[in-house]
Amino acid sequence: MPPSTQNADPNRSNAHEPSAATAGDDPGRVEPNRADPNRADPAPADHNALDPDRLDQVCAQASAAIATAGDLDELAALRTLHLDGRGAPLVLARRALGALPQAERAAAGRRHNAAAASVRAAYEARLAELTAERDARVLVEERVDVTLPGARRPRGARHPLTTLSDHLVDVFVAMGYEVAEGPEVEHDWFNFEALNLGPDHPARSSHDTLYVDPVGSGLLLRTHTSPVQIRTLLSRPLPVYVVCPGRTYRNDAVDATHSPVFGQIEGLAVDEGITMADLRGTLEVFAQALFGSGLATRLRPSYFPFTEPSAELDVTCFACRGESSRQPCRVCSDEGWIEVGGCGMVDPNVLVACGIDPTRYSGFAFGMGLERAAMIRHDVHEIRDFVDGDVRFGLALGTGN
Ligand code: DAH
Repeated sequence: MPPSTQNADPNRSNAHEPSAATAGDDPGRVEPNRADPNRADPAPADHNALDPDRLDQVCAQASAAIATAGDLDELAALRTLHLDGRGAPLVLARRALGALPQAERAAAGRRHNAAAASVRAAYEARLAELTAERDARVLVEERVDVTLPGARRPRGARHPLTTLSDHLVDVFVAMGYEVAEGPEVEHDWFNFEALNLGPDHPARSSHDTLYVDPVGSGLLLRTHTSPVQIRTLLSRPLPVYVVCPGRTYRNDAVDATHSPVFGQIEGLAVDEGITMADLRGTLEVFAQALFGSGLATRLRPSYFPFTEPSAELDVTCFACRGESSRQPCRVCSDEGWIEVGGCGMVDPNVLVACGIDPTRYSGFAFGMGLERAAMIRHDVHEIRDFVDGDVRFGLALGTGN
């Protein structure tokens, strides 16, 4: 017997087995798996399957199994197994119809239809029940509590340096200054030479400059915002009153107070009759905007190639108000004063480099580091906090002034 018929009903005669011959043509064929509707060859037709008792039995079995299907997946599998899979008894029975004598075929067909309809009805009934159960369950499981607060996206904060820079710019704009900006990749001439720092000037070494390829291009990352002074004097008509915030770069290793990228804010006034008294008064307004009112300023002699005379600007310590001799002060290290930035009267050589007559015009300039100012103002101990990107830092310092 060919392998495909080994599983056949023993009551059945081989003469009534239409597909046995076909299956027998392929001796290598494996035993058909009735539960697998996707297998290549249909199972042999079963004539006895049209027997009324047998149909009743098949119907009863199928309907009983379907009625107890536990979920929709199981029901789908049972449908294939009993109703419409290629090996389902009802499908095999239907195929057997064709082999019946003409006289028996109509009655057998009606019996088969009735049987299939009753199994299908059982299937539909169970499908309706299981679908309703599933829907009810999903409604509970996936219920949305509309009274819960929504998932809000936190808004973040402005960067504290942006806030500080904008605040200081506003103070100068209120005094009639304009805002000027320049490129961060700058030419040596603007960054050094026009600012009275010739190629061999010793003060160049203090700038730890980062140069830009190719060597000899004269390009560098600006080491301060002072080149914006030159660009302004060359491009704007006199008198000039500008405030210049911006990012600057130096080849500094990162530690608690140094960073290779930092912000500066620069100021420049060039007009007829400008004196150091104007510088002093302007810086007083500036210092109070930074640290609060009622603080004294002092100018300490210093040196910058682009100003003559030059000075460091100190402000009374806002924490101890200069009383550090009586109690220790962490903010000013008991100095009573805080160093804020550099300043001075614009060196005549700078004016000449920009084509301005120094016998007619004079000016003052000042510059300071933004991070340093923010660290003093907000008692921040790590310059790295400004670049870490922790939103809590920004939230604490970045909003408001
Ligand atoms: N550019 C100087 C620096 O980065 C700061 C400075 C000092 C700027 C004095 C000025 C000034 O405009 O007058 O160290």
